[in-house]
Amino acid sequence: MIAGTTKVFCVIGDPIEHSLSPAMHNAAFRHLGLDAVFVAFRVDRKNLEHAVKGIRSLGIAGVNVTMPHKTAIISYLDELNKEAEFVGAVNTVLNAEGKLVGFNTDGIGAVRALKESGLTLKGKKIVLIGAGGAGKAIAFQLAQEACELRILNRDGEKAKQLAAKLERKFNTKILGNSLSQATLKECIKDADVLINATSVGMQPNHNQTPVDRELLKPGLTVMDIVYNPVETRLIREAKSAGANVVYGTEMLIFQGAASFEIWWKTPAPVDVMRKALSDKLCRGGA
Ligand SMILES: NC(=O)c1ccc[n+]([C@@H]2O[C@H](COP(=O)([O-])OP(=O)(O)OC[C@H]3O[C@@H](n4cnc5c(N)ncnc54)[C@H](OP(=O)(O)O)[C@@H]3O)[C@@H](O)[C@H]2O)c1
Repeated sequence: MIAGTTKVFCVIGDPIEHSLSPAMHNAAFRHLGLDAVFVAFRVDRKNLEHAVKGIRSLGIAGVNVTMPHKTAIISYLDELNKEAEFVGAVNTVLNAEGKLVGFNTDGIGAVRALKESGLTLKGKKIVLIGAGGAGKAIAFQLAQEACELRILNRDGEKAKQLAAKLERKFNTKILGNSLSQATLKECIKDADVLINATSVGMQPNHNQTPVDRELLKPGLTVMDIVYNPVETRLIREAKSAGANVVYGTEMLIFQGAASFEIWWKTPAPVDVMRKALSDKLCRGGA
């Protein structure tokens, strides 16, 4: 029951109506009997600063941040954790007694989704396509996993710069190159894991795929972080080629679980969040 003591959490973005965060977090709050509620606010770009002032003045306990505010919100926060600072984007804010701290849980969510699928990352050859916000966050986490990382991006300079920055930071060898079917072929031939962190294949372009079907093979694990549609063309073709697959919804669940754990300092009920997400998707969310 909502009462005077109820803690308020929210997600801000524009558009926001199809956000899956309220379903996941409210299910988790209910399951653990937490006196809290999670709501969604559509915030126009020009109102972002006011919205952040509102978070402070209303004492909103925690916030998820989605498009288009992930980068713009930084200038209104008090502090960033190391992932958010490296990536230059925030998807989670903790209101620590009036101090607003920004986090980025996308990379943590992706790596946890891979590990929970049964993969050990140490020593694995991983091809990451995409060096946008999500790609950077994932690369930042993978660079700390003692795997062999190769980053490919349509704008090759972005991939090279990201690889060089990570090499300097973590003293590890990382390849960065432009994305083409030729560079993909070269990188995938002995790879263990392929991650799509581009938006290729996302609605309304669900007939597109960033990787030719003939490059997919048994023994390869393919993760597509696109979750709308849940079953992307890349995932469909990976399955038909005999590869193992990890869905974008798994990353979504684990990035949400990581936000929950930042806010509550207690393990998130991941299965409850997964069920809430799947129920919501069945009802036509996202
Ligand atoms: N599952 C999850 O929890 C989760 C979390 C975050 C994001 N996502 C999804 O991940 C995707 C990327 O999000 P983002 O925030 O990283 O977006 P972003 O910052 O805009 O980056 C987009 C990325 O896609 C690449 N790209 C776009 N169109 C392309 C094309 N036609 N061919 C090749 N590459 C193309 C871009 O390459 P250039 O740099 O060359 O432009 C860039 O690497 C979105 O679909 C988003 O919904 C999922």
